[in-house]
Amino acid sequence: MKGIVFNLLEEVVSAEHGERTWDALLDASGAGGSYSSLGNYPDEELGRIVAAASKALNTSDQDVVRWFGRKAIPLLARSYPAFFAPHRHTRDFLLTLNTIIHPEVRKLYPDAVVPEFDFEMPAPDVLRLGYRSPRRLCGLAEGFILGAADHFGESAVIEHPTCMHRGDTACTIVVRFGAKG
Ligand code: HEM
Repeated sequence: MKGIVFNLLEEVVSAEHGERTWDALLDASGAGGSYSSLGNYPDEELGRIVAAASKALNTSDQDVVRWFGRKAIPLLARSYPAFFAPHRHTRDFLLTLNTIIHPEVRKLYPDAVVPEFDFEMPAPDVLRLGYRSPRRLCGLAEGFILGAADHFGESAVIEHPTCMHRGDTACTIVVRFGAKG
């Protein structure tokens, strides 16, 4: 996993819970703690930091990565405004994941391993994403989707009818968008 993801996690944890909490998570997980954005670090190291956080907060790993993804979007919108600016709706932004966002990420970070989603639109206000990755970071995907909806001032209700964490071969993430009311 690229160092940029660890940097984002540090920024989110420090902003919400203070730098000492980040240090405590590094101590508890035995993680190295010094990550350059272009470097590559074991996925399992991210997993250990997440596990330390979920233990400290008495919640699940999925909840921690979802929370992280949601809080990370404002930081990504600040660093990569060009991905957000052309769009007015969350759905249209998400539909550029395979064609623009992650391909551009791979230009900036050539050895990044980004997931490929498949998309279906069963109704104008519904987007169904298929997600498959050995990292099984579907909770992160949910968090990014929720953060993107916050960004565009929309509501997003998510269902996750198939999930790799429940033994399915792929995740299906169904998002129903609405106006924020
Ligand atoms: C907004 C701009 C975005 C940027 C700059 C970005 C960038 C990245 C980067 C750098 C990685 C790590 C790749 C690696 O470590 O090799 C990543 C992974 C990932 N991204 Fe994005 N991303 C963005 C938006 C999104 C959105 C909206 C989603 C929501 C569906 C998403 C879903 C994921 C997931 C699930 C992973 C984990 C890797 C995996 O599943 O194997 N990303 N992204």
